[in-house]
Amino acid sequence: MTLRVGVVGGGQLARMMIAPAVELGVELRVLAEDAGMSASLAATAVGDYRDAATVLEFARDVDVITFDHEHVPQDVLAALVEAGVAVHPGPDALRFAQDKLLMRARLQELGMPQPDWAAVTDADELQAFIDDHGGRAVVKTPRGGYDGKGVRVVSAGTEAADWFATLAEDAHGGALLVEELVEFTRELAQQVARRPSGAMRAYPVVETVQRDGVCAEVIAPAPHAGERLPQVAAQIGTAIAEGLGVTGMLAVELFETTDERLLVNELAMRPHNSGHWSQDGAVTGQFEQHLRAVLDLPLGDTTALAAWSVMVNVLGGPVEGSLDERFATAMAEHPQAKVHTYGKAPRPGRKVGHVNVVGDDLDDVAYQARAAVAVFLD
Ligand SMILES: Nc1ncnc2c1ncn2[C@@H]1O[C@H](COP(=O)(O)OP(=O)(O)O)[C@@H](O)[C@H]1O
Ligand SMILES: [Mg+2]
Repeated sequence: MTLRVGVVGGGQLARMMIAPAVELGVELRVLAEDAGMSASLAATAVGDYRDAATVLEFARDVDVITFDHEHVPQDVLAALVEAGVAVHPGPDALRFAQDKLLMRARLQELGMPQPDWAAVTDADELQAFIDDHGGRAVVKTPRGGYDGKGVRVVSAGTEAADWFATLAEDAHGGALLVEELVEFTRELAQQVARRPSGAMRAYPVVETVQRDGVCAEVIAPAPHAGERLPQVAAQIGTAIAEGLGVTGMLAVELFETTDERLLVNELAMRPHNSGHWSQDGAVTGQFEQHLRAVLDLPLGDTTALAAWSVMVNVLGGPVEGSLDERFATAMAEHPQAKVHTYGKAPRPGRKVGHVNVVGDDLDDVAYQARAAVAVFLD
């Protein structure tokens, strides 16, 4: 009997589950926010993921519900579970990816290494934290942030006045998250796949390069890592996957500090930009792995296929025309490049696609990936 997976959210992550689903013979259904989204190829429904009745209707006749994003409200998730729908990751795990304050508190209980942090409810509390941490700190809105929106480096408690004001209007009230400004040499990401029955597989730890708060490039595995760092990163990833009961793909964003510690930045419980390299660079890509994990099927090998993989995002796209018009040039000039597009209209800063290149020489692999992406820009 054909297995059926329902994905809530019609973005590029849902889109990139389509090809592996076809290969596995899994029927993929997508509840998209609007017509014409990235995953419209598989969209069987269009509707509001915040509406329980809409999501329940979509969830009828699928074997499992999973997600393209973290924004499905807890009451909608609870209604699914109540109705007997298999939901992976489940609400009890997902809430730690939905709310950065809940995440910090839970990671503290689990003894995970993380930046100094506090929940602050007004400018005075924020100022006190700043004063205790060398005059600067990072303030974050606990919910709804992405690509650096909702993250601000501040040196005065008054610099988050607008966010405190928004909180005051919010029915739930609550607090902002403040963290020490971490001195890091680089950012890393550790992915782990976990089945409902508990089996896990960790991917090689990767280096991620952010520009203006947005992931620009990923190098897999993280260069100059030695033996210990990959082991510690994998231990952190598996401890979090197990401790939080994550099912499906988990990404743990990490800082490598100037004094060579690893600190957890944040979590994503779905395929993640830091894992796009695995589509072409690993035995089992993260999108296939996510489907296998949420269906509680045996997980695939996570070994890299070559010494190096580099993923470069296409951010913005061409000023005029579409990505498609540049395909022929990119393909002719960079036959090693694997181009992935999201079916999205170019707009400054928008993630509209990425390029993977895999090979034995890191400089060459990185050059080819960047040069292929450059064909789609200007
Ligand atoms: N405590 C911190 N210290 C230093 N830089 C940080 C800190 N927290 C976040 N950043 C920087 O901001 C980026 C975005 O923050 P993150 O919490 O990952 O938000 P988002 O949900 O937008 O990805 C991080 O990738 C990192 O470059
Ligand atoms: Mg992040």
